[in-house]
Amino acid sequence: MNKNKTVLVCGGAGYIGSHTTVELVQAGYEVIVLDNLSNADASAVEGVEKIIGQKLKFYNIDCNDKTAMDNMFQKEQFNSIIHFAAFKAVGESVNQPLKYYNNNLQSLIVVLEMMKKHNVENLVFSSSCTVYGQPEILPVTEQTPRQEATSPYGNTKQMNEDIIRDTAAADKSLCSIALRYFNPIGAHKSALIGELPKGVPANLVPFITQTAAGIRETLTIFGDDYNTVDGTAVRDYIDVNDLAKAHVAAVNRLAEKKQKTNYEIFNVGTGNGRSVLELVKAFETVNNLKLNYKIAPRREGDIEKIWAETTLANEELGWKAEKTIEQTLESAWNWEKKLRNL
Ligand code: WQD
Repeated sequence: MNKNKTVLVCGGAGYIGSHTTVELVQAGYEVIVLDNLSNADASAVEGVEKIIGQKLKFYNIDCNDKTAMDNMFQKEQFNSIIHFAAFKAVGESVNQPLKYYNNNLQSLIVVLEMMKKHNVENLVFSSSCTVYGQPEILPVTEQTPRQEATSPYGNTKQMNEDIIRDTAAADKSLCSIALRYFNPIGAHKSALIGELPKGVPANLVPFITQTAAGIRETLTIFGDDYNTVDGTAVRDYIDVNDLAKAHVAAVNRLAEKKQKTNYEIFNVGTGNGRSVLELVKAFETVNNLKLNYKIAPRREGDIEKIWAETTLANEELGWKAEKTIEQTLESAWNWEKKLRNL
């Protein structure tokens, strides 16, 4: 393997990790996938292999396992890491905060320690727009102040960013980028990989597709009394394949040493806000079906509206979201149908 063109993807069997692995390989990188499969399925790695037409090196390792990580770093050659591996269910984090602080903080710390020990310099970190809380001014830029996190999950993302920021300040050899995702949705066009939530989906689009597939009886829309176009909450929904390409652009920036500072943050969204009802209607139209839904009170911890200002990523990463919301919602439904043999 060519060390300079090899990327370690921690959490590479996950939703965004698997789509990013596809885009990295198709951009000419070699990828080592690492995942403990606590919130992912090995079938995702097989799906990626089918798409790229080659086998992948896969390590079933927990990033918190220092010995296993040390052995793998000794054995393999790579000079960039994308760190996705984290728990990410907002509601679960409220009920099990220590599970989140332990895993989401410790796994990053181990990765950073191994990078230092084994002279790996480039890190792309999976952050989230959740660090902004409910912004006062929209759209949010990277300079929009972070607000008090509304969940332990969100707090771990803020703390992770601070861990990287402080490590980069102390060690100029670390070259790091944090990508603040907005709401990732959709699936690969092959329908061989997609979102595979365990149990009842917390997120909107998998709940929509499972309702359309008859797995869920009806979609509950949480709140129609927000100060928005139709009263339902607004988010910036970004196609997972576009999001994956943003990671390739970030790895390229690090590999080509184009950074202005050794810790950079980029918003990765479309720049468009859409309400829940607008998404439901778009899903029905593009997939030519009717969705059962009902309105219920707001969900605890939800913010009203957020969408990204994406100029920095567009200009500095040379990346821009390309998919239309209709294309994305069609891909989500195609994935659900393939998953359920519909
Ligand atoms: C979107 C909107 C819900 C389900 C979280 C994390 C974020 C990222 C994505 C990890 C909200 C409404 C939802 C349903 C609904 N996670 N909704 N009925 O909460 O914006 O973001 O997940 O990377 O970091 O914070 O996403 O999809 O849960 O909700 O009405 O059955 O859909 O109330 O307004 P969210 P979501």
